[in-house]
Order: sequence, then structure tokens, then C-alpha cells
Amino acid sequence: MNSLESLGGAEFPPHMQPYTAQSTHSGQRGHTAPTQPLRTAYLNTAFAGLGPAKSAAALRQAADAWTVADQSAYEPAVTAARASFARIASVPADRVAVGSAVSMHVGLIASALPPGSEVLVAQGDFSSLVNPFAVRRDVKLRIVPLESVAEEVREDTALVAVSEVQSADGRIADLTAIREAAARHGARTLIDATQSAGWRQMNAAQYDYVAVGAFKWLLCPRGVSFLTVSESSAEELLPVFAGWSAGEDPWLSTYGPVTKLAESARRFDIAPPYLPYLAAEQSLALIEETGVERIGAHNRALARRFRAGLEALGHESVPTGDSPIVAVPGLGEAAAQLARAGVLASSRAGNLRFSFHLYNSAADVDHALNVLETYAKETGSKEKLHRRLGRGSNSLRP
Ligand SMILES: Cc1ncc(COP(=O)(O)O)c(C=O)c1O
Repeated sequence: MNSLESLGGAEFPPHMQPYTAQSTHSGQRGHTAPTQPLRTAYLNTAFAGLGPAKSAAALRQAADAWTVADQSAYEPAVTAARASFARIASVPADRVAVGSAVSMHVGLIASALPPGSEVLVAQGDFSSLVNPFAVRRDVKLRIVPLESVAEEVREDTALVAVSEVQSADGRIADLTAIREAAARHGARTLIDATQSAGWRQMNAAQYDYVAVGAFKWLLCPRGVSFLTVSESSAEELLPVFAGWSAGEDPWLSTYGPVTKLAESARRFDIAPPYLPYLAAEQSLALIEETGVERIGAHNRALARRFRAGLEALGHESVPTGDSPIVAVPGLGEAAAQLARAGVLASSRAGNLRFSFHLYNSAADVDHALNVLETYAKETGSKEKLHRRLGRGSNSLRP
């Protein structure tokens, strides 16, 4: 049973922002409306997740201690975050490398491909997953529609790189079909789970690589990312970012060539920034305590309620399967006006993109639908007015 109350509890107090009611809704220019606080519906986790209170407290404490603290005291936070992510990804911690951005993990993989390798990617997939291959002029990048990725894997495909959930519109890739096709043709697999980790069960051991930016659904600050590396693919991956901290014993690896790199995937670490990892330890613990399955069920239920409401308002959304990301084509330009009414969503690839996470509730969904209804009425009446005045609707920017 799901009451659609927020799962965030004390970690996520209701979000308030100053809101000037009349300037948004009435469109009366020159009139200064009183500013009153409005509960904000934060429906933008696909852009960045909100930080839990305890993660923010860890950062605050570290900022206060910065001038005096021994930085090595922060290393256990990196170890704890790695272990926590490993449990979420269902792999042993020694298969997880840490870093600070997805593009760097992907760059590591791209740098190891022999010249002439074919990399298969999905049209419109996120650039951090695609571009590190595109800049390798000696690699063949083949771009196909998301729905065709599995059937487009060929004998000469070296690597299939695809996001589990598309950033632009929330579509979910058929990873079973992609995995099976890759196995049939001997291609390696790289999955970007940035838009799925935290609400969708993950079994990263089924892929050669899984890269995750943790600043969205995993509620970490920017600067926290993970890469899982299978044992067999680790053998052909050159640890080009390995410095002292990737040594088997980092403190015996500080000068000259590192004589013994870590046996584990830690040798593919990109030296992690400590402060974001202090918060990550807390955020990932919260995801584990709440439970990915429970979070997924909650998020999907909210998205279903929202889709039903959209339909009642006459809006179509991109068919995504059961994704907590809902994209409304052609409405991207409404994002700024919605934000002024306390509904935070994103404009992506022409879509108005909403995303629902554990701190959201049915009240957020309903608030967004109400604001969209008002927006449609206002836009509709402006359109009528402009038609009467003989102008095109292109001039109707809010
Ligand atoms: C699918 C996907 N991958 C990766 C990222 C982030 O990439 P990076 O860490 O390189 O900025 C995003 C964020 O917007 C994303 O949506």
C-alpha cells in the first residue's frame, strides 16, 4: 500500500520559496504583489537531487573544521560510500571505482579501446556517455535509435554504451535485450545508471561497466560518481588516472612510479574529493535505509498519478514504461513560468521534464497539475487574444 505521502521524513522538510502570486498568475504588469511563501514542488531530481539534512550537516561540520582538521580523517567516508554504493549496485566493494564525474569514467574506458573499434550508442543519449568516444577520431561511433540498440549490435561492435533511463525524457532501455545481444556478439557493455540508480534495482555484475553520477537519485552532492568494473574487463582497462591513492598501499605509493597498484577496481579511482564524499556517506545510507524497491514504488506511483492528471488536462507525455521521469513534448518553454509558481521542473530537448522522488508527495503532483491547468488557461486566452489581433502565437513568450 502506498499513501503517497513523502518518504523523506525529517531529512527533507517542506521546501519553501518566496512567491509573488499575482505576478505569476494574473499577468498584470506594473503591479507589485505581496510576496508570500509558497511550498515548492521540487520535481527536478533528474537534474539534481535534494540533499538530506544529515548530509548537509556533515558538510557544514567539515567546513567548520576545514582550517584545523586532518584530511586523512575523511578517508573512511570514501570507503563507506564505496561500500554502500556496492550494496546498492549488488556487487562486491572491490569491483567499485570512485570518481567525480561520469565523463571521466567513460573517458577511461574510451582511452582503452583499440583504434578502429566500433562503439554503439543511442540517439540523444547523454553527452557525458557519448562524447568521450566521439573525441576519439580513430573509434567508429554508431548512433541508432534507443529502441533499436539491441538489434543493431554486430560482430564488429566492441562496446555498447547506453543509459538505462534517458535523461531527456525518461525512456527506459531494454537492458535484457541489449545484454543478450552484446553477449551473442562478444561486445562489452557500459551502462550509465545515473538516471536509474536509487529508484531502480541494479545488478551491475551483469555488465562490464556501470557508471553512475550520484548527484541525482542518490542524493549526493556533485563530485561523487562511481564505476563498476567486471573482473574480465578490468584486465583490458589501462588505469590512466592512477596516482598515489590507487596504490595497493597508498601511503607507500607517494613518489615515483607506483610499484603495486590496487588489485581491486580501486586502481581505476579518480582521486575523490573528500568533502562531497562525507555527504555521500550519509546520503547513500539514507537510500539504503529507505530501500530502493520502496523508493521505486513510491516514485512510480506519483508519476502514474501525474500522467493521469496530464491526460485529463489534454497533455500527452512521452511513453516511457513505468518511469518516474515524465516528459511533455513541446511544453519546455513553460518551465520558467512554472518555477515562478513554485513548481520546479526542467526544459530538456523541447520537453517539459518532471521527475518524482522519495521526498515528493501527492500534494506535489496535484500542485503541479493545478499550475499546469492555470498555465494552459492563460496561454489559451493569450492565444485567442493574439489571434483576434492577427498575430502569430510565436510571440507568446510568458
Ligand atoms: C544519464 C546521465 N549521465 C551522466 C550525467 C552527468 O555526467 P557528468 O558527471 O559527466 O557531468 C547526467 C547528468 O545530467 C545524466 O543524466
